[in-house]
Amino acid sequence: MKDENKTPPKRVPAIRTVTINGELVPYEDARVPITAPGLTFAVCVFEGIRAYWNEDQNQLFVFRLNEHLERLHFSAKMIQLDPLPPIDDLCKQAVETVKANEYRADTYIRPQAFVDEFGGMFAKGPVTTTIAAYPRSRMRDFHDGTKVCVSNWRRLSDNASPPRVKATANYLSSRLAGLDAQSKGFETAIILSESGKVSESTGACVFIVRDGILITPPVTAGILESITRDTMMIIARESGMTVVEREIDRTELYATDEAFLCGTGKEITPIIQIDQFVVGDGAPGSITKILQTAYDDLVCGRSKDHEDWITPVY
Ligand SMILES: Cc1ncc(COP(=O)(O)O)c(C=O)c1O
Repeated sequence: MKDENKTPPKRVPAIRTVTINGELVPYEDARVPITAPGLTFAVCVFEGIRAYWNEDQNQLFVFRLNEHLERLHFSAKMIQLDPLPPIDDLCKQAVETVKANEYRADTYIRPQAFVDEFGGMFAKGPVTTTIAAYPRSRMRDFHDGTKVCVSNWRRLSDNASPPRVKATANYLSSRLAGLDAQSKGFETAIILSESGKVSESTGACVFIVRDGILITPPVTAGILESITRDTMMIIARESGMTVVEREIDRTELYATDEAFLCGTGKEITPIIQIDQFVVGDGAPGSITKILQTAYDDLVCGRSKDHEDWITPVY
């Protein structure tokens, strides 16, 4: 009998080919054994990378590919996986994976490294690396902004489950905060640290703008050391803006003139409401919009600045 309460299966995007341990294989053949510690104990690290299609240049550009794969290596080292393939090899594999699928649209690339086959929670190998890529378009809230709440879940700490490690296990915390936010009608949440200061969102970092100054929590605030956050700080400073990394109080979120989330997935998403407080005049702020445009020009290969940040696929 049909179970009406069952969540309908999510459609897998049309992925033709993925990479497993350096080999291109059909997506249907990419399977994880149910005994893998990567599954049971979340002995797994991963990355999320975006590539942007530039119609005028008939080209797909991957954004800061090298930095993402450096972070994958760092994460793997922190959870003591056996050594991964060299970063250069993984970069080539990422590009080849996208190419094999012939994507000519904005694309998301998901590398993972996990302990495969069979073992306990302390197993360091055998490590399997996988790379999947699929079309992923612009965030829905990019232009109109999003509404977030402050979570009553607390952020992980460096002494427990270090957030600067992009480990699968860390995302339980994000899931709990995100589901809680959605049940209250918000898109996602901003999470405070155990000491009550702003940390980050479920899958993105946070910036606020007060009196024209960009403020973001420091890397010691329980955040992932975000590549987009780094990008934003660099391009904001290059545009003559002042950027400060410091603790942010909860009430500063409510008092802020502008705010935005930033991350590979979220891109630069303006925040227009935090809990019951409207941010600014309830529309994306002017500084946020300037930064969005600069970011967009960079990632789509329209800017002459930082050309080393983009890798052409074709
Ligand atoms: C928890 C968390 N914070 C921040 C970010 C943003 O990091 P990045 O800009 O490197 O994608 C992400 C996304 O990967 C994330 O999952």
